[in-house]
Amino acid sequence: MKVLVIGRGGREHALAWAFHKSPNVTEVITAPGSDGMDSVARCVPIAEDDHAGITALALDEGIGLAVIGPEAPLVAGLADRLQKTDVPVFGPTAAAAQVEGSKEFAKTIMKKYAIPTADYEVFHSLERAKAYVAEKGAPIVIKADGLAAGKGVVVAQTEAQANEALGQMLDSKQFGEAGARVVIEECLEGEECSLMAFVHGTTVVPMVTAQDHKRAFDGDEGPNTGGMGAYSPVPHMSRTAIADAEENILRKMAEALAAEGMPFTGFLYAGLMMTGDGPKVIEFNARFGDPEAQVILPRLITPLDEMITAVMSGEERKAEWSSDSCIGVVLASDGYPASYEKGTALDSRLTDGEGKLPFFHAGTKKTPAGWVTGGGRVGLVAAMSPDLDEARRMVYNQISSVRTDGLFYRTDIGARAVTAARAHGPR
Ligand code: AMP
Ligand code: GLY
Repeated sequence: MKVLVIGRGGREHALAWAFHKSPNVTEVITAPGSDGMDSVARCVPIAEDDHAGITALALDEGIGLAVIGPEAPLVAGLADRLQKTDVPVFGPTAAAAQVEGSKEFAKTIMKKYAIPTADYEVFHSLERAKAYVAEKGAPIVIKADGLAAGKGVVVAQTEAQANEALGQMLDSKQFGEAGARVVIEECLEGEECSLMAFVHGTTVVPMVTAQDHKRAFDGDEGPNTGGMGAYSPVPHMSRTAIADAEENILRKMAEALAAEGMPFTGFLYAGLMMTGDGPKVIEFNARFGDPEAQVILPRLITPLDEMITAVMSGEERKAEWSSDSCIGVVLASDGYPASYEKGTALDSRLTDGEGKLPFFHAGTKKTPAGWVTGGGRVGLVAAMSPDLDEARRMVYNQISSVRTDGLFYRTDIGARAVTAARAHGPR
């Protein structure tokens, strides 16, 4: 079978890598892909928003399965388009992708079907929004309604911060239309956890857990980013809490979307907060998490295409997972998530995986003189070991043995989990 992966980031590199090692997959094609995916896929330079071009490519190549990595083409209806031409596609329709594309949509469904989440209100008037903040007090969370690449959320510690964020979204339109409506919600406390499932209608097969680190700097300081590193599994999430989230959050959401006439097909992502009252939803995404994909897919033993094909035929086939822990640390360009330079030379020992560990490329480019940076998140170094602490050591040894001029990374990815794992013992 030929597989088409749409996208160009680290998540798509991990997807292409996973398909590439499946015995059933004859070729992986990516559109547009990236130089860094060269060893696992044939890259065809068609952009994610060129839906006509991607559809023609899928038909010409006789694609047996198309997987869409990022949210933007999903929300824009690429899966609908491919479906119409009978290309088997594992990705939600534009209607179902609203779970991610509109926070208000996701919140309304969660309320209607009693899926546990933070209390909230939606506003488009700055005055009313400010009055609500004054009534509720801080800490409080302000979110742009639409897509903002993971950066449209402000966890305000004071009312002043909340009001400033509201002004930027509703008045200065910092996020354009995405911020023309805001969701203001209760600030949840606890440990965060990402839980995803393979979903087709009401067929739901949960994956293993992962935790992303969204803030730019150590100790969860600094601005929110697309994700600075992740690990899987999350040792401090109990089996009971996982089972609870699988049934009362993921399965319930899939059933709710089907009941609403917009059945979901694809990777359904629940960002959870493990509160004192059990897991609650922070956000749903309509796709694989990034960088969660880079630490979850290396643990998947069942070929990825077999899992997807089974789920798409209505079979709740259990996936086989490695019991090892996998950890990934992102190297980002200095300045990210604000402005940063491109074209910084990268150490070939990093990019060529000379240091035995996989490197999932995100923002890199190959030039005649070698690899250079081409984005904010440059790539992720991953390691797997039966012991999470050992996996951490492997990743950080690799990173500190190469040149990282012009880059930064967090030094505490998975650190709290190691402490928690010691306290809890194996799960
Ligand atoms: P989101 O883009 O919705 O995932 O939000 C980005 C980050 O903001 C999350 O990963 C959390 O760390 C934080 N966050 C979002 N919503 C809440 C909430 N209701 N309470 C506490 N933290 C939140
Ligand atoms: N890692 C969070 C996300 O993919 O949205």
